[in-house]
Amino acid sequence: MRQGRLAGRVALITGAAGGQGRAHALRLAEEGADLILTDREQHTLDAVADEAAGLGARVVTGTADVRLPAELTTVVDAGVDALGRLDVVVANAGVIRTGTTRAGSQEDWQLMLDVNLTGAWNTCRAALPHLTGHGRGGSVVLVGSIHALRASGTAVGYTASKHGLLGLAKALAIELAPESVRVNSVHPTTVLTEMLRTISPPVPVEELATLYAGFNALPVPWVEPGDVSGVVAFLASDEARYLTGAALPVDAGTLLLGPRG
Ligand SMILES: NC(=O)c1ccc[n+]([C@@H]2O[C@H](COP(=O)([O-])OP(=O)(O)OC[C@H]3O[C@@H](n4cnc5c(N)ncnc54)[C@H](O)[C@@H]3O)[C@@H](O)[C@H]2O)c1
Repeated sequence: MRQGRLAGRVALITGAAGGQGRAHALRLAEEGADLILTDREQHTLDAVADEAAGLGARVVTGTADVRLPAELTTVVDAGVDALGRLDVVVANAGVIRTGTTRAGSQEDWQLMLDVNLTGAWNTCRAALPHLTGHGRGGSVVLVGSIHALRASGTAVGYTASKHGLLGLAKALAIELAPESVRVNSVHPTTVLTEMLRTISPPVPVEELATLYAGFNALPVPWVEPGDVSGVVAFLASDEARYLTGAALPVDAGTLLLGPRG
């Protein structure tokens, strides 16, 4: 019998092939969960699945684009068939493109709305038939951003998509509360992943750290993926059994500092 706060539970994670999604998968596996992992690419997903299996988790993987409900439903249904249940959903897949309203492109705006907002909604819709109706309850964690709580004038589409995700989390929390399914959101500051790399100059990590110095109140340029995973694991666990509709910043205090552009 595996030990941990999530022993006996099954968790679905989107965007699980790298970055924060990988870290969430490994942390939830350490906490005893079995996993349904999905992303767009099977190859990197397999590597994460192997790591999680090494921690004792049973793992089912499947590729799905979160913009496509039928693909998500296929993966989730197959995962639940194999693992027997679903208790936790981590809607983590996301993309960022910087841009203002006037200079940003229509394509980038649509991409962020489709992946970050509609993708989270699609993920919930694919999962809910398995999370509800059996009386066990469950936990949904939507991964937002500090830009769900504070606007960025240079990332307008991203800000809009993540504010939308926060609204989804709160509204869904009300909808699902009678069935003891909790819905919360986490809102990281900059996290050192591929995403941060794509919006930053291509410089060594030490120079990047200098660029991001002072962004947060705490004296760190960014947080690590695992710092977010700890909060995700807490929200997934029974220790958070009376938290729903909460929006938890993992922000090293940056939101205390006011607008940052
Ligand atoms: N990195 C940061 O600074 C930062 C800060 C705050 C919030 N976030 C949010 O955290 C989440 C995870 O980001 P990350 O930092 O790990 O970035 P990442 O780019 O390393 O990982 C994002 C993952 O999402 C997947 N993905 C993208 N589009 C997809 C689609 N259409 N269908 C399925 N999967 C798709 C990617 O393949 C990738 O594995 C995102 O929602 C992001 O917006 C990131």
